[in-house]
Amino acid sequence: MLAEFLDTSDEWIYPRTGVKSRYVISDEKLEEMAIEAANKALADAGITAAELDYIICSNVVNEYITPQLSCIIQGGIGATCPCIDINCACAGFIYALDIAESQYRAGRVRNVLIVCAEEPTRMPDWADRSTSVLFGDGAGAAVLTGGDNIKGISLSSASATDKLYQKRTLQPTPYITKEEIDIPLQMKGQDVFKFAVKASSTDITKILAQNNLTANDVDHILLHQANIRIIHAIRDFLKQPDDKFPVNIESHGNSSSSSCPILLDECRRNGRLLPGDKIVLSAFGAGFVSGAALIEL
Ligand code: UT7
Repeated sequence: MLAEFLDTSDEWIYPRTGVKSRYVISDEKLEEMAIEAANKALADAGITAAELDYIICSNVVNEYITPQLSCIIQGGIGATCPCIDINCACAGFIYALDIAESQYRAGRVRNVLIVCAEEPTRMPDWADRSTSVLFGDGAGAAVLTGGDNIKGISLSSASATDKLYQKRTLQPTPYITKEEIDIPLQMKGQDVFKFAVKASSTDITKILAQNNLTANDVDHILLHQANIRIIHAIRDFLKQPDDKFPVNIESHGNSSSSSCPILLDECRRNGRLLPGDKIVLSAFGAGFVSGAALIEL
């Protein structure tokens, strides 16, 4: 389909990215997907919306500048608790876990809903083959309840704002004299690739060391699904077998912060995750920001 209007081909896209197909939003709204994911997670957790103490929504873009997406989700699921949006690009799920964990440790919450909802296919210029072939839309949600399953979280940021960005114009004021233009998603792909491999490898190594573990002790390493070659480079750095790295990039593309919770849910539903398993989640994205979390089931 892409090759019909772009100078590209499956022969280029698949080996370079690992993407075969992905989901692209049409007339449905992102908030509808977010609410559906939230309701499914609540049902799976056996928690009602009324029992939630906090909702964190990770999102890079959606149609609303205000109100926040988390408030729309709150209304959609019938919750009454405080809610907050974060934009930590593709690393949003890990940053949301960190906020939830901090709130829990502070004794302020028992049950937290994290919803990652992303429509990155609406960011690039679809005539730009270097970006438009990469992304897929989706929403993933998780409910966190009391416990000590999160063994550690490591976050890092390294400002490099010209590597991956998008700019939009706002309403003019009488005082703005310079011309403003919308700039669709811009990406220096190779720089982002190198950052991703280094940041993720560093984050994972750090979190394992903090817990006196090595990669050999971990059962599953769930990486942000940005490019299969990034996943393979991190796998090789960690010297771990391929089967420790579940992947779904082939059918989803890069769904930004939704990528980790969607992959986590797929692993859970296909019986891959067993009680006692140790999981590392690691994600990276624009900013740059990155983070890893160690979870014991
Ligand atoms: O969630 C975080 C966000 N982003 C990422 O993680 C992306 C990280 N980067 C990447 O995944 C890779 O850098 C890309 C997949 C984006 C690009 O792969 P690459 O191996 O780094 O390719 P490149 O940018 O060096 O481009 C190689 C060639 C260029 O042509 P020339 O200059 O060698 O003639 C590009 O113009 O491939 C060309 N090219 C394409 N050709 C066909 C770039 N995109 C395409 C395309 N189809 N879609």
